[in-house]
Amino acid sequence: MDIIEAIHQRKSIRGFKPDPVSKDILSEILESGCKAPSAMNTQPWEFIVITGDVLNKLKSALVEKLNNSEPTQPEHQVVSWSNDSIYRKRQIELAKGLFKVMDIPREDKKKRAEWMERGFRFFDAPVGILMLTNNSLSDSGPLLDVGAAMQNICLAALKFGLGTCIEDQSVLYPAVLREIADIPDNKRIIIAIALGYPDWDFPANQLSIGRESLDNNTRWIGF
Ligand SMILES: Cc1cc2nc3c(=O)[nH]c(=O)nc-3n(C[C@H](O)[C@H](O)[C@H](O)COP(=O)(O)O)c2cc1C
Repeated sequence: MDIIEAIHQRKSIRGFKPDPVSKDILSEILESGCKAPSAMNTQPWEFIVITGDVLNKLKSALVEKLNNSEPTQPEHQVVSWSNDSIYRKRQIELAKGLFKVMDIPREDKKKRAEWMERGFRFFDAPVGILMLTNNSLSDSGPLLDVGAAMQNICLAALKFGLGTCIEDQSVLYPAVLREIADIPDNKRIIIAIALGYPDWDFPANQLSIGRESLDNNTRWIGF
């Protein structure tokens, strides 16, 4: 697949078939993750790949925390924009788009809560990838590098007909991940990726959320 084609084809998948994904395929995908550039080749990423009973246990434990309204404790702050910002506006557009394709009315609190739960269940994907870095590194330094590896993983997955959803939701209760996946204190949990074969009949997978036009976020100098 052409690289530009892959970049344009990738989108977040939030409904998966239960079919397992082989370790060989996952290894090839993660090898692509490791090919990402990093500052001075520090390669500050680590992956934990979870499937089967352990992933099911993790999903249940995360949903339990959510349903008990326990405060989230992310080790990497994603949501930090103000309510009157363009970022919040885009977030709302995304939520509206998802609720529309999922046929979740704004006032239907039950369905909205069920949708929220899906996110904490890795969208029922058969594989969850946790992306970690080392606590000895600076707070922001490794994020660019881990992000590059994250994108490589999402693009490489396409080669095998797999879909991904990068997920902040499933790392919001790090203590649960630490206990179940045996993650020591010197590691910092950055992000997760839900991965599996897309269920193309699942309505949320129909959504293709747009982007700001290039003209609105680019300045050309000297052309
Ligand atoms: C750092 C990061 C965290 C994300 N966390 C979530 C999440 O918790 N739940 C979710 O449904 N999507 C999550 N996403 C997916 C974004 O919503 C998605 O990438 C964005 O809306 C653009 O849509 P696309 O991936 O379909 O192109 C995350 C993406 C990134 C990059």
